[in-house]
Amino acid sequence: MNRCFHFALFWLLAGISGLWAGSAHAAGDPAAAIAKLGACVACHGADGIGKAPQYPNLQGQKAAYLEKQLKAFRSGERQDPNMSIMAKPLSDADIADLAAYFEQVE
Ligand code: HEC
Repeated sequence: MNRCFHFALFWLLAGISGLWAGSAHAAGDPAAAIAKLGACVACHGADGIGKAPQYPNLQGQKAAYLEKQLKAFRSGERQDPNMSIMAKPLSDADIADLAAYFEQVE
């Protein structure tokens, strides 16, 4: 009985620490992004649906992809007259939060 109990306890704790690691993960915080959305919404919409044909939809896009694109705009690897300027002042945390926001927004 004892062995079995320890075995169960181990998995219980492993599960809890797994959850903990999940919530403490460096992934972006959609709620924090709301204060950072600023000008983004003028073109991409608060719901991530582009306001004009030249503004891409971001709604539901994978956060990892959005993050990669924002970093590419920031570094100059990807260039666009609007986005290169928009991405310049963003920190890594800003980018993670914004990417997480647009992934989950509806
Ligand atoms: C003045 C309009 C404008 C503003 C403001 C703007 N964007 Fe953009 N965004 C664009 C355009 C245009 C593109 C497409 C660029 C291209 O064709 O390469 C784009 C592309 C993107 C992409 C890449 C999408 C993809 O599918 O590859 C991301 C991510 C993005 N914007 C995020 C943001 C965020 C976050 C903000 C606010 C910090 C923002 N944008 C502000 C116009 C804007």
